Amino acid sequence: ELCKGINGLDKIVLRESGGSSAEVYLYGGQVTSWKNDHGEELLFVSSKAIFKPPKAIRGGIPICFPQFASHGGLESHGFARNRIWSIDSDPPSFPTVSSSKVFIDLILKPTEEDMKIWPHSFEFRLRVALGPGGDLMLTSRIRNTSADGKPFSFTFAYHTYFSVSDISEVRVEGLETLDYLDNLQNKERFTEQGDAITFESEIDKIYVSTPTKIAILDHEKKRTFVLRKDGLPDAVVWNPWDKKAKAMADFGDDEYKHMLCVEAAAVEKPITLKPGEEWRGRLELSAVPSSYCSGQ
Ligand code: BG6
Repeated sequence: ELCKGINGLDKIVLRESGGSSAEVYLYGGQVTSWKNDHGEELLFVSSKAIFKPPKAIRGGIPICFPQFASHGGLESHGFARNRIWSIDSDPPSFPTVSSSKVFIDLILKPTEEDMKIWPHSFEFRLRVALGPGGDLMLTSRIRNTSADGKPFSFTFAYHTYFSVSDISEVRVEGLETLDYLDNLQNKERFTEQGDAITFESEIDKIYVSTPTKIAILDHEKKRTFVLRKDGLPDAVVWNPWDKKAKAMADFGDDEYKHMLCVEAAAVEKPITLKPGEEWRGRLELSAVPSSYCSGQ
């Protein structure tokens, strides 16, 4: 269902028969809402988010491409998150992707202006799907369509903003003992020491070579988000905390308490595609009551 969202921007609403739903803006190809079968919102979107190009929407699942953060010469997080994507009405088949019938296919191709800042021709296909249990699945397929015979490299992230009750009650499992690059310390490499990751100050870390499954446990909400990823070796964990929150115009001063970004990413080792080659990166999110996850 295509309809008008904030400021008249086009959005697609997906509804699954069990009652869960999701919203995707063509602006940024960005998921801005994911609700479970009780109608509870699972993603964070700032109350101050600016739904107006060229500012990227603060929340949901921005797509960082062809550059993650400032790991290169482009604007922060690349340009895919502030371009208007199109509906891909006749996508090539997605062979291994779930049998879900509730999905939308979007496509982004570079304009001439884009080619001036990043001189590579590509087709970026994004499928957003809701599974029978309300799982949210994102599949990205990026193809090098250049005729000049040249490969290109990129970094990538699904910059997911999870909604949490209270950041001080949250922990992340699956990243302990791993190496990370600390953005707050000149991207230097460290090894995580703790048992699980908890939050009491600003964090901006790129965990490298992470397992395919990561869990975010929200003790107060009695909810666990399970993130499964494929083709995306890294995981970025970000919370701006109070000072950075105040410095962001499109983010409320206290909102850092109610969000956490855990981003399935490919950052440390850029992906390189030769002409005709395609890369695939997949993210699957589930939200389950914590009582069902004992022992995890
Ligand atoms: C995170 C980065 O992914 O995104 C942070 O690791 C960055 O360094 C944050 O501050 C937000 O970026 P932006 O461009 O959306 O304000």
